[in-house]
Amino acid sequence: MATVVVTGTQWGDEGKGKIVDYLAQQADVVVRFQGGSNAGHTVTVDGEEYKLRLMPSGILYKGSLCVVGNGVAFDPMIMLEEMDGLAARGIDLSGIRISNRAHVVLPYHRLMDGIGDEARGKGKIGTTKRGIGPCYMDRDNRIGIRVCDLIDKEEFAKRLKENLALKNKELKALYDHEPLDYDEILKEYEGYADRLRPYVCDTIALLNEEVAAGKKILFEGAQATMLDIDYGTYPYVTASHPISGGVAVGAGVAPKKIDKVVGIVKAYCTRVGEGPFPTEQLNAIGDKIREEGHEYGVVTKRPRRTGWLDACVVRYAGLISGIDYMAVTRLDILDSFDEIKMCVGYKYKGELLKEIPASLKVLAQVEPVYETFPGWKTSITKCRSYEELPEKAKAYLTRMAEVTGIALGIVSVGPNRDETIVVAKDIF
Ligand code: IMP
Repeated sequence: MATVVVTGTQWGDEGKGKIVDYLAQQADVVVRFQGGSNAGHTVTVDGEEYKLRLMPSGILYKGSLCVVGNGVAFDPMIMLEEMDGLAARGIDLSGIRISNRAHVVLPYHRLMDGIGDEARGKGKIGTTKRGIGPCYMDRDNRIGIRVCDLIDKEEFAKRLKENLALKNKELKALYDHEPLDYDEILKEYEGYADRLRPYVCDTIALLNEEVAAGKKILFEGAQATMLDIDYGTYPYVTASHPISGGVAVGAGVAPKKIDKVVGIVKAYCTRVGEGPFPTEQLNAIGDKIREEGHEYGVVTKRPRRTGWLDACVVRYAGLISGIDYMAVTRLDILDSFDEIKMCVGYKYKGELLKEIPASLKVLAQVEPVYETFPGWKTSITKCRSYEELPEKAKAYLTRMAEVTGIALGIVSVGPNRDETIVVAKDIF
């Protein structure tokens, strides 16, 4: 198989970085197709941790192309910070390609993301404040500035002038905020444009050429199904499409050219920001999951909300994205638990629900139906094959595959590259 999509099945932070990194070893091209620097992937290579936000994870492999697709909310400041950090650690940056159609995150996007979300008061989404929502809002409002504009000095100066006049009016009227300075932003962004120009190209043409040449292409999703703007727990969602269909719109590669979809399933659940989370454990179990799993945000450092695995959510993600294989991550975090629970359905007003309710009011009131599994109470980090896993861990995985209707493809038993059990050998 030549084109593989990796997508998160829960509320993000499933450990996609590790699985993407593992698959990236075999890929010629790694592509980001949505989201932006709101993502935070931690990849551990030979004991060294790399925290990536905007950069495709393939950057850690010599010779692979790393594409920032047109669907990405592209923050040039963050990209350059990451590039500098990686170059200082000896990483080769020559494979980077940035779409000329990606929308650019500007200082007013970051500012408005912060004050705009706070202004919602109790209804705030708890965004990462990276300007992602406001950048996509400008795109959809057809006033966005794209990378092709950024690298065109004259065009950028003109577009920035028009946009900033509007944004400063909004800042004053809505938030009584002082205006942002045109010359300062212009100078800052001209500097970014000069450094990034060599990496910009038509990534749609490039990717379709690579597909036609039979190259192995990995599409790396950020965030996850339950944060998708349409399919997630709206309005507590991000502003893009992390589902596999997002590849078609965010990278310009047609749906029929996608061969395999891998859904990342953390062995338990976490969520950052506000919004319903049926299996949340606001108790000692939740605290134990957080501490064992070091569940704190890569980007925002916020403590994550924690709970048991919700297999209903994973089944839903499987339907929407056409997931072929699950990659179960962080199974080792459950090593010391006496018992482990899995939500296999929801009850609402005494009735068993078959679907994920669209209404947040309903979702906030559902009662999870749990199955309980005895813990395996031993370290699984050294297991390198499915057979080596304790029977109790296998029982948990088997039931997960049954309830979700998705085959088991990979099991991750630790943060390092080699702490990975590959069950399905035909992913790429
Ligand atoms: P935004 O993407 O910054 O607009 O934030 C919208 C929602 O998505 C908030 O609840 C964020 O916490 C959540 N979110 C955004 N990116 C990630 C991520 O990479 N992992 C987990 N949650 C995220």
